[in-house]
Amino acid sequence: METRRGPAANVRTAVVWEVLSTVLATPGQVVVDAGGGTGGFAVPLAEAGHRVTVVDPSPDSLAALQRRAAERSLDVAALQGDLGDLASLVPAGSADLVLCHSVLEVASETADPADLLAAIADVLRPGGRLSLLVANRDAAVLARALAGRPDEAAHALTDPAGRWGRADGIARRWTPSAIAELVAGTGLVVEQVHGVRCVSDLVPSAVLDTEPGAAAALLALERRLSDQAPFRDLATQVHLLARKG
Ligand SMILES: C[S@@+](CC[C@H](N)C(=O)[O-])C[C@H]1O[C@@H](n2cnc3c(N)ncnc32)[C@H](O)[C@@H]1O
Repeated sequence: METRRGPAANVRTAVVWEVLSTVLATPGQVVVDAGGGTGGFAVPLAEAGHRVTVVDPSPDSLAALQRRAAERSLDVAALQGDLGDLASLVPAGSADLVLCHSVLEVASETADPADLLAAIADVLRPGGRLSLLVANRDAAVLARALAGRPDEAAHALTDPAGRWGRADGIARRWTPSAIAELVAGTGLVVEQVHGVRCVSDLVPSAVLDTEPGAAAALLALERRLSDQAPFRDLATQVHLLARKG
């Protein structure tokens, strides 16, 4: 995944944080961040008073997470494992919220995404929510075309996994409707679908970092576009909020 810092980083995550704030109105919620990495979401959530567990296969990421948490005197549980191990690491029916951000497209290389989503659903309590962020197939088609790679764009369009070729580092992408269908297939109720990074990846970082007010204006635009077709449907990532009945 592209890593931008500074104002651009806020633009990339603002829409997700806005959705999360609606379901985390009161502190003390049990949050599991599956594939939470170094804690970009987990640490701020712990800071807001939630009880956060990160599950991730990378010991380096977990060590970085624990350093970040310790620097802020926060308690974040760090468990080594992958999405397929959730059932053995986290009690069934225990989580108010599971985050699975930018992970399903990687984890799907070795496991069926429907099975991984089912494992996540098992961890949720009745009424608990899944916050799922995945790579958008149609954004990849557009990106390869704009990069002057029409053959790769066409490949992504027809490949069942939405990959643009052998060198593609992402194992799977979904259109907004396909990921909503997959989530609904686990029995979760899809409540919201947003586009994340509808246009911000098309804006050079230098503009955001140097022009006063540019990042705030772009952030406001991203918010407006995130639930509007066709912009939502072409965003780099698709965000879903789903509830366990
Ligand atoms: C792009 S990072 C996203 C980190 C974090 N979720 C975020 O949004 O900032 C992908 C993370 O998924 C983790 N990961 C890779 N394969 C995984 C798997 N099978 N199960 C769970 N996590 C996995 C990686 O170690 C990495 O921390």
